[in-house]
Amino acid sequence: QIERKVDALLAKMTLAEKIGQLVQYNDQGSSAPTAADADSAIAVNPETRDHVDALELARKGELGSMLNVIGAAKTRRFQEAAMHSRLGIPILFGADVIHGYRTIYPVPLGLSASWDPQLVQDVSRMSASEATTAGVKWFYSPMVDISRDARWGRSTEGAGEDAYLGSAMARAYIRGYQGTDLSNPESVAASVKHFAAYGAAEAGREYNTTDMSDIRLRQDYLPPYKAAVEAGAATMMSSFNALNGVPATANPYLMTDILRKEWGFDGFVVSDYTAVMELTHHGIALDAATATEKALKAGVEVDMMSHFYDTQIPTLLKQDRLSMATVDEAVRRVLRVKFALGLFEHPYARGTEVTRAVDAHRPLARRAAEESFVLLKNGGDGKAPVLPLSASVKKLALIGPLADDASEMQGAWGGAQHLPDVVTLRGGLAARMKQLGGELLYAKGTDVQTDSEAGFAAAKQAAEQADVVVMALGESSSMSGEAGSRAHLDLPGNQQKLLAQIVATGKPVVLLVFSGRPLVLDWADQHVPAIMETWFPGTEAGNAVADVLFGDVAPSGKLTMSFPRAVGQEPLYYNQFPTGRPAGDADLSKPPAGDTRFISRYIDVPNSALYPFGWGLTYTTFAYSGVHVSRARVPLAEANRPGAKDLVTVTATVRNTGKRAGTEVVQLYVRNLGASVEQPVRSLQGFQRVALKPGESKQVTFHLGFPELSFWNVKSQQVVEPTHYTVWVGGSSLATQQADFDVTP
Ligand code: IFM
Repeated sequence: QIERKVDALLAKMTLAEKIGQLVQYNDQGSSAPTAADADSAIAVNPETRDHVDALELARKGELGSMLNVIGAAKTRRFQEAAMHSRLGIPILFGADVIHGYRTIYPVPLGLSASWDPQLVQDVSRMSASEATTAGVKWFYSPMVDISRDARWGRSTEGAGEDAYLGSAMARAYIRGYQGTDLSNPESVAASVKHFAAYGAAEAGREYNTTDMSDIRLRQDYLPPYKAAVEAGAATMMSSFNALNGVPATANPYLMTDILRKEWGFDGFVVSDYTAVMELTHHGIALDAATATEKALKAGVEVDMMSHFYDTQIPTLLKQDRLSMATVDEAVRRVLRVKFALGLFEHPYARGTEVTRAVDAHRPLARRAAEESFVLLKNGGDGKAPVLPLSASVKKLALIGPLADDASEMQGAWGGAQHLPDVVTLRGGLAARMKQLGGELLYAKGTDVQTDSEAGFAAAKQAAEQADVVVMALGESSSMSGEAGSRAHLDLPGNQQKLLAQIVATGKPVVLLVFSGRPLVLDWADQHVPAIMETWFPGTEAGNAVADVLFGDVAPSGKLTMSFPRAVGQEPLYYNQFPTGRPAGDADLSKPPAGDTRFISRYIDVPNSALYPFGWGLTYTTFAYSGVHVSRARVPLAEANRPGAKDLVTVTATVRNTGKRAGTEVVQLYVRNLGASVEQPVRSLQGFQRVALKPGESKQVTFHLGFPELSFWNVKSQQVVEPTHYTVWVGGSSLATQQADFDVTP
């Protein structure tokens, strides 16, 4: 049905109308390549510097999509123009709705720490439902780039370092955004980004190159994109980086061979912002025409803001460097998505525009924030836990630059938030202390990035008067996200100095860390009794923090990126490959001596993460027992089939051994020894959130099939070989309870 409509429309379109479907501008029009070009040795076609009047293009039916046009009145203005054009093809409005539109929930890295795909699906649906009231029908989300290097600022936008968890989250976002029916007025098309391997930018430096083997690409980086495509993702976004020397935006191996031929993707690909133009900076296109030819032929259908496709395609056609069939195929893919979205029937914003956080959405945003928090430390080493706080605390001091700043609770890409809606920590905790008949003392102490100690004295004074001190420290929102790479990962400015002075008062201190990435918290770990990672929690920040600090809700988040001890450990991730000089039992906390020198280690810091992948405490404890596999041997012929499911069932019992109810994220890790290609020391292959009352036990079951047991070999084939498998079940990537089985020849 859709294909017939697409063909019929295509047959009526002029070349200019066709090209129009392949370009994208914002409402300023395009001021395309400017500053960056000045630095470029490559002459860019002067035509590309023209200012584009987007409204005029819309009137002529030559504007297929727009980005970040916010507000129903604005989208209507452009859409009316398009709908009154000759063929009345609607504009597709796309926006960077990454973690909420008006009601903001935690940054995606925080959300991933919930290990709760249903929650991710629900909040995604919530933002789709809000944004469609403003006419936005396309999200540049989810970002499913695997990030193993905390220096990369965009780590905040993804689900962390692991392909299995990343794939589960990718599916959840697609289900939430697109629903079961893309034509539902509350559904939006997803744009899965950034294809591909953008998270592996060398040294964590934004826009930098990536270089990796095909095995690593397929095993560790591609699975979440593939999971999103299998879940029905309507569009993809090409990434800025080069992969193995070929910029992704002109990379036929990625865009055509893998995405279309192997995965059968039938949607369209949009370039990242000016990425087509940037092919000239990458040095693989000497002019705008070649950049256009390479990108379009590789499989990038829509040019975001380069102003190359509209200026270059006519010439390329005349010169026979491009065929009309290639142009038609690109237009067909764009129209297919527009028809699937029901845009022709419902081109305008639906219902009443949402212009601020929606009260009915707040409980979900609050729960999302609560589930995202990761309790990194709580007492220990013989010291009593500080959390949860007792309701009898009379004076609570709240100190830090992130304690009372609404804009800093949003994190990168804060949607179209309405700042007065945000419950700051100060707001949330003041209300809670009032309810409890106590008092909240507040002092900012310092700024996120400053040397000035002017606020230290007031902060110490507040601490000295209090029973307990809560410190809100970390990064500002703008320190992560796009172009937010950092070479240092410690608390910025003089925040650690302030922390040390407050700890020195002898009062119990709870450190809340707001950040878009793992930070180096080595000093804090040694000196602060309780530490909780709170990411950037969104609209309900203050209420969620109050709920968790006072124990109305027990923390249940688990890390999805390893927290290093020192920045020099990056990239740091749990599922590393083995080395020929493993550390074995050596005490890596001590400088090397004798036999411990010539092993794979640092001489100045342990190899391990300070807080590893999967780590997170709560207000109770859990014990694991009875890890069991259903069979000791699996014949290869049975296992080495892509459709093979449930080859081995793993069971384990988890028991709540503490005095409070809690939720544990039970994790299953697998290792495969003896394969033709070395395999990671362990990889996540299953997880479940399990709620347990004090003393309660549950048996959890995981099913391992071909997807979980296979790996990629040197011929780029996904296979199972006759090898030995070990499985571990536990509460983090340090799980120790294990069972074994073999795949036999
Ligand atoms: O969607 C983003 C992308 O993630 C980074 N560059 C800009 C795009 C559009 O705003």
